[in-house]
Amino acid sequence: MMLTGRKNAGKASPYLLILISVGCFFATYNFLTMVGHSRNGDGPRKLLGGGDQGGAVSSGSGSDPSKRFHVALTATDALYSQWQSRIMYYWYKQMRGRPGSDMGGFTRILHSGKPDGLMDEIPTLVVDPLPEGADRGYIVLNRPWAFVQWLRKANIKEDYILMAEPDHIFVKPLPNLAHGEEPAAFPFFYIKPTDNEKILRKFFPEEKGPVSNIDPIGNSPVIIQKAQLEKIAPSWMNVSLQMKEDAETDKAFGWVLEMYAYAVASALHGVHHSLRKDFMIQPPWDAKSDNTFIIHYTYGCDYSLKGELTYGKIGEWRFDKRSYLRSPPPRNLSLPPPGVPESVATLVKMVNGATANIVGWDDEI
Ligand SMILES: *[C@@H]1O[C@H](CO)[C@@H](O)[C@H](O)[C@H]1NC(C)=O
Ligand SMILES: *[C@@H]1O[C@H](CO)[C@@H](O)[C@H](O)[C@H]1NC(C)=O
Repeated sequence: MMLTGRKNAGKASPYLLILISVGCFFATYNFLTMVGHSRNGDGPRKLLGGGDQGGAVSSGSGSDPSKRFHVALTATDALYSQWQSRIMYYWYKQMRGRPGSDMGGFTRILHSGKPDGLMDEIPTLVVDPLPEGADRGYIVLNRPWAFVQWLRKANIKEDYILMAEPDHIFVKPLPNLAHGEEPAAFPFFYIKPTDNEKILRKFFPEEKGPVSNIDPIGNSPVIIQKAQLEKIAPSWMNVSLQMKEDAETDKAFGWVLEMYAYAVASALHGVHHSLRKDFMIQPPWDAKSDNTFIIHYTYGCDYSLKGELTYGKIGEWRFDKRSYLRSPPPRNLSLPPPGVPESVATLVKMVNGATANIVGWDDEI
């Protein structure tokens, strides 16, 4: 349906590649599962199952099972993604059983196509990356495709899904913020559908209503009914590939293209999200962590020793995930100087709390 009007035969478009890939999906999937099985000595459940669905960690006391959500973390096998995923999973385990939590099982959806060294530490499903070249170097285009594959293959017990990212840390037990068919999402100030009407109309036709029907969100964090995500995910994949293929859209949206694609795809299905600013905070811009559920550490935190923010300039004290592209952060990072916002201190304490307790943190994985 999304492809009407662009039937340029002769050209090997990424869509064709995707179609072929979808066609080969089951064969490839089974093959990879077997490879993973023999290489790791893991039971197929480890690779195939819906993830960690119970066992040692119990869900929030008194939590209504019908409200529980599965935590789905899309990740790669890059070291940079791995250390963040370990910290993320550590805090999930800490918060999951606490009162107020509706957190259910957990799956790291590993979209690098092969198992990595964390298969025994984090419940993981291996899925295929996009066919070579289809992401045009924009790796997060793999996320929608990863969700499509996971939803098809996994046996997910919960009715709801939280789409999460490796640089999320749970600071509080997370309740289900969705209400029935109204999912919950974090509004991003830089996602502005009404400012981009001309571009968005290429993907969101007039008959779907005003572009203000498109929520100012990305796919994460979002808590949504599994049944809704099953409908949205394939469109999200199509829309993101189409946006990437359209030069004007690619230029306009840049690194947030895949966020717009989710916003558009959900709107195409008539799904409206309730916008929850308290879903997460983003240090250093948000100073306090007492009224939120997730710390998203995507921005560098640079400060002088007097506690003044020196954003964009390397600070005398700093915490920036990008400092750890090639090796994970060492244990026991120094805490920020006095005067630095509480949220930044909490972030570093939580990173330290995780790295102190994760077995083999410094080991090669
Ligand atoms: C996505 O694109 C494929 C390939 O053209 C098409 O077969 C499929 O119907 C599309 N799906 C959606 C949900 O738009
Ligand atoms: C962490 O580092 C501080 C100095 O920054 C030191 O005083 C403390 O003993 C260290 N703690 C551990 C557990 O290594």
